[in-house]
Amino acid sequence: MTEPTPGWYKRAVFYETPVYAFGDSDGDGIGDFPGLTARLDYLQWLGIDCIWLLPFYESPLHDGGYDVSDFEAVLPRYGNVENVVAFLAAAHERGLRVITDMIVNHTSDQHPWFQAARQPGSPTRSRYVWSETPDRYPNARVIFIDTQDSNWSWDPVAGVYYWHRFFEHQPDLNFDDPWVRNAIKDVVRFWLDKGFDGLRLDAVPYLYERDGTNGENLPETHEYLKELRAMVDEEYPGRILLAEANQWPEDVVPYFGDDDECHMAFHFPVMPRLFMALKQQRAGAVIDILARTPPIPATAQWGIFLRNHDELTLEMVTEQERAYMYAQYAPDPQMRKNLGIRRRLAPLLDGDRRRIELLQSLVLSLPGSPFLYYGDEIGMGDEYLLEDRDGVRTPMQWDDSPSAGFSPADPGDLYLPLVSAPDYAPATLNVAAARSDEGSLLNRIRRLIAIRSAHPAFGLGDYFAVTADNPAAMAFLRRAAGEQILVVANFSERAIRTSLALAEPAHWVDIGPNRPDTWSTGSAFELVPFGCRWLTAASDGVD
Ligand code: GLC
Repeated sequence: MTEPTPGWYKRAVFYETPVYAFGDSDGDGIGDFPGLTARLDYLQWLGIDCIWLLPFYESPLHDGGYDVSDFEAVLPRYGNVENVVAFLAAAHERGLRVITDMIVNHTSDQHPWFQAARQPGSPTRSRYVWSETPDRYPNARVIFIDTQDSNWSWDPVAGVYYWHRFFEHQPDLNFDDPWVRNAIKDVVRFWLDKGFDGLRLDAVPYLYERDGTNGENLPETHEYLKELRAMVDEEYPGRILLAEANQWPEDVVPYFGDDDECHMAFHFPVMPRLFMALKQQRAGAVIDILARTPPIPATAQWGIFLRNHDELTLEMVTEQERAYMYAQYAPDPQMRKNLGIRRRLAPLLDGDRRRIELLQSLVLSLPGSPFLYYGDEIGMGDEYLLEDRDGVRTPMQWDDSPSAGFSPADPGDLYLPLVSAPDYAPATLNVAAARSDEGSLLNRIRRLIAIRSAHPAFGLGDYFAVTADNPAAMAFLRRAAGEQILVVANFSERAIRTSLALAEPAHWVDIGPNRPDTWSTGSAFELVPFGCRWLTAASDGVD
């Protein structure tokens, strides 16, 4: 299973989890590698193909571990490098792949590279980005607007300002320094040597700074990614690079290069539009953003997601759309964070099974590979009053015991409190209960994953929009050699009928959980409230 299988990532279902949130083996209240390893059977049962691990490196943890102070060491509370290797072996034995976060843009200010660079007269000063004045690169936006006024902070030791696109404790590395370019390649080698199947490249648009630009998506950044890709292809064939580039479609597509940059990139703009379309009960926003998405190379793949460990970002929407999203989904201003909303999927959708299933069905069938966020498969809740984005990073809820089966420690000693709202607390909502309830959300999502996995066109097929005359409906085909899948979704709370502008084939058969059902081309297509149907052409021989 770990042998290179070209294109494996195109058919894979990804599952994102932080090590600290999944399982605590030693009772310190914090998840660790042995605890995560012990839960692999669950992920195998769920049917996912690839785990995405959040950063587990040495870190002062001022940004959930995205502030790294040693790229090649494991934070001791999570375990050690041997535990990581054992975890990878156990995952691979089960046919699961694993990718990990690689923070290329910045380090923690506690990193020895920064501590050395800031010293007066340091020969390694050029590893970071400095300025005598804080007004250079005025066109570069501030990303963490709730906590940062500027991308420059004064360093009293260096006696100059240093550049940071995120928190002031996260100085940006200077990719103009060849030493930095090589050092990051060595970190990539270090973890790929341990057996990871790929890397999520964190905050990748911001590697370079140039006067007169906004410091995003610069040609130099793409050049470096091409170097990195060439190295991976040469030294680690079959491993993948996934770009976290929160950008408009036309600016993300260049991250695939000409099959020579990243294999995958998240489709950020489609995400808020799925939520918007639900409230508007009209499919237009989703249809339009996909129509606006340029074609990508044959080997490239989008990453499609609803939620992740960050706020539900509203960077890739207009100001008017952002105001609408805040009003609809973050009525309490405390739910807002930076340019986004710090809530989980289920509470965002008022715990409504129909709407959760609609969005999950779309994530599993839109063009790209789906990324599920841990806990969302059981409809976990959040604690949005916690600091920063911690409210969506609480312990996984395995059972109804006091610490939710997450840890032998007391509930009060966990790294973050368990979700407390009665509808969402572990006493009500947990994996064990959901597994034994055949009608649960968990079992429904597992079924959807299995159906997706059985039909290659979901991963490999192209996307062809089908015009529906009902504005609540979205219809599209996924077409791959020998297989055609028709997906039709209803964003409204009413049952609808719609015509579909399809001429052939004549007969379709449902493959989704709503089967048995059929549809004949030319007849009215019917959907229940918030329904989503997946069908294959009957001529494909599937029934
Ligand atoms: C990425 C991560 C986010 C982190 C930021 C800075 O956007 O997803 O969690 O805070 O990078 O490293």
